Amino acid sequence: MARDDEKKMKLMEEESGKFWEEKALSFAEYTRSGRDVYREYFNNPAFFSFVGEVKGKQMLDAECGEGSNTRCFSDQGAKLVGIDISKKFIDLAIKEEIKRPKGIKYIATSLSDLSCLDGNSFDLVVTTMVFMDVANYEKAFEEIFKVLKPGGSLFFSILHPCFKTAGYNWNEYELNLGKLTVSDYFTNKPAFSGFDSGDKIKGSANKPFKSIIHRRTMSDYINTLIKTGFVIGKIHEPRPSKEACERFPVFQKWRDHAAKVLYLRANNPSKA
Ligand SMILES: C[S@@+](CC[C@H](N)C(=O)[O-])C[C@H]1O[C@@H](n2cnc3c(N)ncnc32)[C@H](O)[C@@H]1O
Repeated sequence: MARDDEKKMKLMEEESGKFWEEKALSFAEYTRSGRDVYREYFNNPAFFSFVGEVKGKQMLDAECGEGSNTRCFSDQGAKLVGIDISKKFIDLAIKEEIKRPKGIKYIATSLSDLSCLDGNSFDLVVTTMVFMDVANYEKAFEEIFKVLKPGGSLFFSILHPCFKTAGYNWNEYELNLGKLTVSDYFTNKPAFSGFDSGDKIKGSANKPFKSIIHRRTMSDYINTLIKTGFVIGKIHEPRPSKEACERFPVFQKWRDHAAKVLYLRANNPSKA
């Protein structure tokens, strides 16, 4: 990557970092309150099941936010390090660690610079719903590849690049009868995008979070992983369960018509 491009990426990252600094407190409160029902009743259960057994593993939660997923993985018996670009998020996570110690180490750094961590030191790296936020995702994949042990795996979730495009829109959203419009799949200009939050389901008029989204195509992600040296292990497009749809009818369209999120497992092939 040319120097100028790298500088531009760094600036974009700093901008995104500042944005999250401002939102850290309210996002932490929101996550911890359980009001993000997509997270609680769809995305998290599906992602934890995708990752599978973590007991005894050395694990990095890259972009851990205030650490709620980090603590869940720790409760399942893994040994955790959490990193995030926002110092405020890291402070919130550390405060929780002091209150209820689990042996988790937290570090404020960008995913595109993991030089604070030893190479070949993690069995698993997870990132949940964050690569869309990272300007320099190529560098982030390289950094993750370096810190993974040979034979280790990266598991990540992102908004589905084929459906949550720049021009995506549900018609008749409220009635769940809608059909999805997908357009501008190839548009990759970073843009502020509304955070699809559970508040909508609770009838709140406001969507409380917006973040800078970098839109990429499926081939951008897959080819960059391959170029970095990863071997694709598994792809999963989870659907909300029948029970979850009955409880939250607004989920139904993500069961019937299109995939909201994409999960990927990418392996660092064994060098042994
Ligand atoms: C949608 S939140 C998700 C947080 C966490 N994974 C979760 O599920 O609760 C996005 C997170 O990415 C972090 N982030 C954004 N850009 C980053 C970067 N370049 N390096 C590390 N963290 C970053 C933000 O500070 C924020 O915590």
